[in-house]
Amino acid sequence: MRTIDDVDVAGKKILLRADFNVPLDRGTVTDDTRIRAALPTIRYLLDNKARVILISHLGRPAGTGFEPEASLVPVARVLGRLLGQEVPVAPLSTEEDSDCPHDRVLSTEASTTVTIGLCGPKARSMAAQLQDGAIMMLENLRFDKREKQNSCEFAAELANLADIYVNDAFGAAHRAHASVEAIAHLMPAYAGLLLAKEIAFLDSIMRDPRRPFVAVLGGSKVSDKIKTIASLLNVVDSLIIGGGMCFTFLAAKGYDVGKSVVQKDWIGPAGELLALAQTKGVRLLLPLDLVVAPFLSADVQTSVVATSDMKADMTGLDIGPASAELFSREIAKAATVFWNGPMGVFELVPFENGTRVIATAIARNQDAVTVVGGGDSVAAAKKFALEDHFSFVSTGGGASLRLIEGNPLAALVALQQAADSRSE
Ligand code: 3PG
Repeated sequence: MRTIDDVDVAGKKILLRADFNVPLDRGTVTDDTRIRAALPTIRYLLDNKARVILISHLGRPAGTGFEPEASLVPVARVLGRLLGQEVPVAPLSTEEDSDCPHDRVLSTEASTTVTIGLCGPKARSMAAQLQDGAIMMLENLRFDKREKQNSCEFAAELANLADIYVNDAFGAAHRAHASVEAIAHLMPAYAGLLLAKEIAFLDSIMRDPRRPFVAVLGGSKVSDKIKTIASLLNVVDSLIIGGGMCFTFLAAKGYDVGKSVVQKDWIGPAGELLALAQTKGVRLLLPLDLVVAPFLSADVQTSVVATSDMKADMTGLDIGPASAELFSREIAKAATVFWNGPMGVFELVPFENGTRVIATAIARNQDAVTVVGGGDSVAAAKKFALEDHFSFVSTGGGASLRLIEGNPLAALVALQQAADSRSE
């Protein structure tokens, strides 16, 4: 994969695809992890006198034009503070801004303003005036529905703004969208430092992990992680399963799990994975005990029961203390740990203990290579102030799982094809 080290960026306009899909609360960024993670590439480009045009998606807007709650302006403000340099955002152009008959009408609905797009005259003029070492940002790419359609037309509009394309958006690397896939075929394309680092780290633990290799999986749905588990069973020594998804596995083993969330259609595949683990000699650990409650609430009465003693009216909402201890002992022996998904509903105090104990056990194992992936696990690590204690915190939940499954990521395939076609 060609990276930004392989090209002279001085004086060039760089279209830099980042993943600034960050949580916002009424216009305030509540977690700036992804913005900070993009800084090394941005700083490298600015220090080397490039002219940087940042592009990103944020949330899942309808794709019919500007939506204030999905604007990237709050992100640009945070980035500007971190860089100590203003990051102006090009507003979407309207019909009256245009002197070009080809600017297309994007949305006329529910708006007095006719939007003609992210790459309209305003963005073009700001990009044209960028100086060496200066930076600007376009508005949320998903304001234009052609982004998710992987439209070549939209990619061409973006490509026209710059000389070189750099993809540093690991979190969106599994999305075959215009700013990730189509665009890489239209201009010289390179990987940024974050994208390269994420791939190198995850690739190395899957290819050549130090052993024992322990994977810890949680989260609510088995269906989201079934392929990940199958793939991990080829490489790990132990697999720990907690979180909501453990109930489908417990049901597959014949336990009564009361009112806990079970994906009935996935009990069969979960049973097959249990059998596969046995065939492959992987130690698969499920909870021995559970924190249960009659319903989910921050002030509900809870109790701890053995997994085999669940009653019909109980809902399991966290792993119990005996499970946390068993899992922690396994983690302490590991030389590589991959963690994705909380052990319980850690956002509520009565159900946070399992995730806290597991996160602490991983953080304490300083002899191991420890990798955390997935928005919820990273949020949990932050809640318990442990995020600086892991070897690597991935910025991509879905993308890291796809990579572990061995699936080609759209961004990497496109960058590779672009490099191959240009070297021919
Ligand atoms: C993420 O947060 O996982 C990425 O930014 C991708 O976002 P998406 O799931 O909305 O495509």
